[in-house]
Amino acid sequence: MDSFTVDPEKCIKDGICASVCPTRVIRMESPQGVPSPAEDFEDNCLACGHCVAVCPTAAFSLDWLSPEECPPIIDELVLIPDQVEQLLRSRRSIREYKDKSVERYKLEKLLEIACYAPSAKNTQPWHWTVVEDAKEVRRLAAMVIDWMRSVTKDTPRIAKSRGFPRVISAWDEGVERICRGAPHVIVAHGDKKYGFGAEDCALALSYVELFAPALGLGACWGGYLYSAANAYPPLFEALGLPAEHRAYGAMMVGYPKFKYRRLPLRYPPRVKWIK
Ligand SMILES: Cc1cc2nc3c(=O)[nH]c(=O)nc-3n(C[C@H](O)[C@H](O)[C@H](O)COP(=O)(O)O)c2cc1C
Repeated sequence: MDSFTVDPEKCIKDGICASVCPTRVIRMESPQGVPSPAEDFEDNCLACGHCVAVCPTAAFSLDWLSPEECPPIIDELVLIPDQVEQLLRSRRSIREYKDKSVERYKLEKLLEIACYAPSAKNTQPWHWTVVEDAKEVRRLAAMVIDWMRSVTKDTPRIAKSRGFPRVISAWDEGVERICRGAPHVIVAHGDKKYGFGAEDCALALSYVELFAPALGLGACWGGYLYSAANAYPPLFEALGLPAEHRAYGAMMVGYPKFKYRRLPLRYPPRVKWIK
């Protein structure tokens, strides 16, 4: 049975592990006692690892996760607010890419980081499909155009409201506005019946986008691509997505052609304060 052990020599009985447990399946029976698993531990533990991560004395081990397996948080690496603000404000949707492939280890790193995004009940429902070959990205973009042409033919008003005629015209003039000439595309997908798939995958893809500049990369949401993947079976099949899945998002990735110099402004927050 999945549970945990506490090293009585190291445990200082501060009860922090029990306090931070999201489902309260860690019990402090008495102020002097060490923590013990609640009866419903196995059923309700989210496997989030908070208990191991928060223990100041490394006394707490889950059966499947020891403190030694969890890298320490290095104080010297904590960013100051100005650095975080610039990181978040300078993130841009990149739509011009160098004609250069991204090394596999960098794509793997992006996905490794993406998996640290929050997810409802720590479900981590995302699956990834990475299109590594630029020619394949172009072929998929062409399929999106096929889909847009058929939507434009059948429901011209809907197509117009979604900007399809302009994208198709651009394509016919040799400008690819689906994947923007990116050498790679990452598609996040998961169980189509899962209620938080869209939120969880969007957050994970946001991590991809935010981390990309640290590797010298740029990224951009591929809204047309994943909408088409869900609506156009030939594209869904070309991506090799399982029948029970839905594409929840797609991100173009590559080396940016241009460097941004300034931070554009945004609307101020539209906020109502409730007291
Ligand atoms: C769900 C979603 C779908 C998007 N789809 C596309 C797309 O298909 N093509 C594109 O060039 N940009 C796409 N974008 C990028 C937005 O246009 C962009 O975030 C917005 O213009 C703000 O610019 P910034 O990201 O550089 O701040 C998408 C963004 C989101 C969040």
